[in-house]
Amino acid sequence: MRKPMMAGNWKMNKTINEAVALARAIREQVNDVNNVDRVICPPFIDIPMVSAELMGSNIAVGAQNMHWAESGAYTGEISAAMLKNLATYVIIGHSERRQYFAETDETVNKKAHAALAAGLTPIICVGESLEQNERGETQEFVSGQVKAALSGFTAVQMAEIVIAYEPIWAIGTGRAATAEQANDICGGVVRKAVNELFGDEAAATIRILYGGSTNEKNIGEIMAKPDIDGALIGGASLKAESYVAMVKTTSELYC
Ligand code: PGA
Repeated sequence: MRKPMMAGNWKMNKTINEAVALARAIREQVNDVNNVDRVICPPFIDIPMVSAELMGSNIAVGAQNMHWAESGAYTGEISAAMLKNLATYVIIGHSERRQYFAETDETVNKKAHAALAAGLTPIICVGESLEQNERGETQEFVSGQVKAALSGFTAVQMAEIVIAYEPIWAIGTGRAATAEQANDICGGVVRKAVNELFGDEAAATIRILYGGSTNEKNIGEIMAKPDIDGALIGGASLKAESYVAMVKTTSELYC
């Protein structure tokens, strides 16, 4: 069985003090939920303090981005080696990075390789725009993104990679995909693409999250779907109450 994951993407929110307080509140309330992986992804600058706050807990820290090079003249960037002892996960290719910072399938693939090589688990994001969705291009586009992101990996490595399907039209809009829509793409497109590349076992192993306007109200229905293994949560991860409720709902479903 794939272990469910609730990953909070705090985006460009929370000063250091706010971040530590939120991490502490989460730790106090869901540290002993053992059947759900909990990952929180604060801004880079908050990571050392959040990581210290969560030391000895079983809540993991992730970054929201990284560069693919080991080091060098890349002003403003952060490498996998810098994250390594502070984080276990790293979000790669979020649609906001693709949209505002010109990330491409190629850079996403390079980052994913660099992350895994450094021992970080990449959470690779894919998802179509509203226009693509309306034109009926979702399946082809998302499948292409998955295949490009996973180029050069092996079947065995699929156990150490997480993919998040996040339709752009659902992110931060309050308009989540229905549980059926999300499950159809997570299973019928993302998992299928992994199967085509790496076979049945890899497809059965890889964890696929849904992201886009998830919250404490819709998470139960979403997590009840067989091909959805978790959520990448934006807005609702910024408040301890909603994130904690989502973890608890998932935990009860998987009991
Ligand atoms: P949202 O963001 O939950 O606020 O829609 C999800 C994401 O961008 O990961």
